[in-house]
Amino acid sequence: MRVLVTGAGGTLGRALAPALAEAGHEPVLFDVKPFDTPHAFVEGDIRARQDVRRAMDRIEFVVHGAAIHGIHLRDHTAQQFYELNLTGTFNTWEAAAEAGVRGLVFSSTMGVYGDSRRPSADDAVVALREDLPLQPADIYALTKVAGEEMCRYYGRQHGIPSIALRYGMFVPEPFFRYGIRLLYGGVDTDDVVGSVMAAVQALVDGRTAWDAFNVESPVPFTEEDGPQLRSDPLALIDKYWPGARELLLERGVERLTPIQEFYPMAAIEQRLGYRPRCNFEQWLEELRSRSEERSEKPVPWP
Ligand SMILES: NC(=O)c1ccc[n+]([C@@H]2O[C@H](COP(=O)([O-])OP(=O)(O)OC[C@H]3O[C@@H](n4cnc5c(N)ncnc54)[C@H](O)[C@@H]3O)[C@@H](O)[C@H]2O)c1
Repeated sequence: MRVLVTGAGGTLGRALAPALAEAGHEPVLFDVKPFDTPHAFVEGDIRARQDVRRAMDRIEFVVHGAAIHGIHLRDHTAQQFYELNLTGTFNTWEAAAEAGVRGLVFSSTMGVYGDSRRPSADDAVVALREDLPLQPADIYALTKVAGEEMCRYYGRQHGIPSIALRYGMFVPEPFFRYGIRLLYGGVDTDDVVGSVMAAVQALVDGRTAWDAFNVESPVPFTEEDGPQLRSDPLALIDKYWPGARELLLERGVERLTPIQEFYPMAAIEQRLGYRPRCNFEQWLEELRSRSEERSEKPVPWP
């Protein structure tokens, strides 16, 4: 299938293009900044409708990733978020509808839950299942909630199916931050790519009209773990992965920030047949094997 990837020069796009090609698709990469690639490339600005139209030539499926995100909140204005993320998504959908594409994967975020992430009590933890109310708490999350709503709208109006993937954090980070953040809604880029591939396949197979899924590293936590996740996460982690506390202490992690939320993976597993694979347990094994590795600061999170 000919698959357009917007924002293709970013972390997701660069990892996704070879996976699409490997699976027999024909990736068409769209970005405002040109970069070296063996695949078809269209240079353009997602904010300019004619650029997006040009990129949509003979496209069958779209993976829409062009956006600014969480890390850009500190140095971009709300107006910039609106123009790139919302006008960009609108342009993508308009051009996709005109071109008669067969499906779209929307890059959403764990941030869409917003105020639903607040625990109800000091000793509670929130299991952020997909059907919780979306209550965006910043402009970035607002653009993604509105983007998801656009997906549903274009689905109703034009009969184009779509899947929103609510990724956790996958901005490249040093080894320690990468590992610890897997407990706080982080996810490996390979799993983000895996989830997109599973979503594209579900759309190719015509298995869904609309769906939205969490895509975070799986954790074994339950709501009953609330009191310990909030008061002494290291102790609870040691219960699930015996010896983890000692190992972390030895490598300079003296304390962890309370864990207030986790992301169940049941929905994506049941409906797309995909479950993120990279997890904290594997990272612990990797840490064990790297005897020189030490945390760059005593409390690595947040
Ligand atoms: N990285 C994360 O931790 C994370 C977490 C949740 C959701 N997401 C979402 O996943 C998607 C991909 O994220 P990423 O980390 O690969 O992003 P990224 O910042 O690495 O890449 C974004 C790409 O978009 C391109 N771009 C910027 N402005 C553009 C414009 N006007 N027109 C066309 N292209 C433009 C950039 O050149 C860049 O190549 C985004 O939609 C993001 O909101 C990312």
